[in-house]
Formats: sequence, structure tokens, C-alpha cells
Amino acid sequence: MEKMLQGKVCIITGSGRGIGRSAALMFAAEGARLVITDIDNAPAEEVVGEIRKMGGEAIAVVGDVTAADYPGRLISETVEAFGPDIDIIVNNAGYTWDATAHKMTDKQWQAMLDVHVTAPFRIIREASPYMRDNAVKEKEQNGRAKCRKIINISSIAGLDGNFGQANYSSAKAAVVGLTKTMSREWGPFNICVNCVAFGFIDTRLTQSKEKGEVIEKDGEKVAIGVPDKIRMMVNLLCPLGRAADPDEAAAGILMMASPMADYITGQVIRVTGGM
Ligand SMILES: NC(=O)c1ccc[n+]([C@@H]2O[C@H](COP(=O)([O-])OP(=O)(O)OC[C@H]3O[C@@H](n4cnc5c(N)ncnc54)[C@H](O)[C@@H]3O)[C@@H](O)[C@H]2O)c1
Repeated sequence: MEKMLQGKVCIITGSGRGIGRSAALMFAAEGARLVITDIDNAPAEEVVGEIRKMGGEAIAVVGDVTAADYPGRLISETVEAFGPDIDIIVNNAGYTWDATAHKMTDKQWQAMLDVHVTAPFRIIREASPYMRDNAVKEKEQNGRAKCRKIINISSIAGLDGNFGQANYSSAKAAVVGLTKTMSREWGPFNICVNCVAFGFIDTRLTQSKEKGEVIEKDGEKVAIGVPDKIRMMVNLLCPLGRAADPDEAAAGILMMASPMADYITGQVIRVTGGM
């Protein structure tokens, strides 16, 4: 039986770790050719190595998705490696930079919009010649283009709001608007555009804040993680009674990328354990 994503060219941003990494490995197991992207070189190269060990095809395009020149480089290196046709983009790269609104700086606010909605928009725009334009030609020639997909990653914070995340929740809400608009603009060319919104997934992003993990962004240290008190509440608030592991979360992305979802567009799929 043919694998679900056999030969498809797929870009997954932020796929060096966490949910993106799990999705990349699952996509590769289903026959996809992967573009692994991350701001950090070592984890991205590790994932490429894992995929090649499985007998799959992958390249890394390392860089910051918020850099103005990154989307252009990402798409041109993808096309150089795999040819001028892109099947699936998963806009997943992201992080949190929390503060209550009255203490939040402009820099904190803007950083979240940059990574969670501006970068996905620019990547989609840059990919247009290799997705939309190809699909327009296919439609002219065959009456219908093959199914291509964009999957943007949102969060329950974007759908319901979250204390201390005015910036993150606004950006994750904005990416829902981008998704719904792109589903209308590109739907006539058989490009499905959906959001997968996560609840609480056990990754570096949600590890105990008390561990003191920081990431560096433009020379500034950004504390990530969730306070233990809140982490414990997840078990009570989530109907399934637990956080998900990254593979369970990535399965929601794979489901939307699969042919099973070829007639689903403009939707927000909540992968939250019911939370
Ligand atoms: N973990 C959760 O509970 C949860 C919940 C809702 C939504 N999300 C979303 O899921 C996505 C993946 O998060 P995760 O939990 O796997 O986190 P993670 O930290 O494990 O992985 C995210 C990856 O994105 C990369 N990244 C961050 N900023 C980047 C940038 N500017 N350019 C390129 N790469 C960058 C990181 O280096 C990291 O490898 C994010 O968009 C996040 O907001 C996660």
C-alpha cells in the first residue's frame, strides 16, 4: 500500500524539537521529503540525520523565521533540493514570552506577532509560485489541481485567551484569521488551509518554569516554561486528565496533512484532550 505522504515535499518550521520534530519523523515515515527548519542548528541537523537513517530524504534550512530574508531563503533552498513544487507547509515554529499586559513591553508584544503570524504569512507568500501558481496551471490543464496543504499551528490561548499571554494569544488568534482568509483565496486551487490548535503538550515550551530554562532572542534572554502550579492544574482541567506527549500532538498535524483531510479547509482543529 502506498504511504500517505509518498514523495510529497513538506516544510515544517521549528522541527528541531518538540511537536515539529515529532511531526517531521511521522511525515518521513509516511514517505514525505522533509525540509527541517529551526533557529538552532544542532537539533535541526539531528532530525535530518534521524530521517536519513530511516531511509528518508531531508534537508535542514537553519535560521530565524522572523528574519526578513529567511522565508525567501527557505523556499529557494527547498526548491533547489526538491524541485519547483511544494506540497505541504506546516507553520509550527514558536515560543512564548509571557508577562501580564500592564508589564508587557512593545518588544515582547511584537516578538510574538513576528514569530506566530508574520513569519507564517511571509512563508506562504514566498511559496506562492510553487503552490498557488502550480495549482492554477494544473487546474487549467486538468480541471482540478492536486491537493496541497498549509497547516498553521495555533493554541487554545488564541481561541480562549490565557493569563499572562496578551501577546501570544493575540498572535495565535491572528493566525486563525490568516488561515481562514488563505482557505478562501487558495481554496479554488485545491489548497487546503487549516489550523491545529494545541492545548497542553509536554515539550520544552511547557516544562517546569522552576527549571529556569531560557532561550536567547536577539541577544535577550527569554524565560520559557509554565509554573508547576499551572502544570498540575492541567490534569484537573483537561477531560483526558493529562498533558499530551509530542507524538500525540503531531498526530493531529499528520491527520490534517493526510488524504483523509483533503476536503477539510478553513477549520481550527483542537488537539487538546478536550480542554
Ligand atoms: N507545547 C504546548 O503545550 C503548545 C500549546 C499550544 C501551541 N503550541 C505551539 O506549538 C508549536 C511548537 O511548540 P513546541 O511545544 O513543540 O515547542 P518547542 O520549544 O519544543 O519547539 C519549538 C521549536 O521552534 C523553534 N523556534 C522557536 N522560535 C523560532 C524562530 N524564530 N525561528 C525558527 N525556529 C524557531 C525552537 O528552536 C524549537 O526547536 C509552537 O507554535 C507553539 O506555540 C504548543
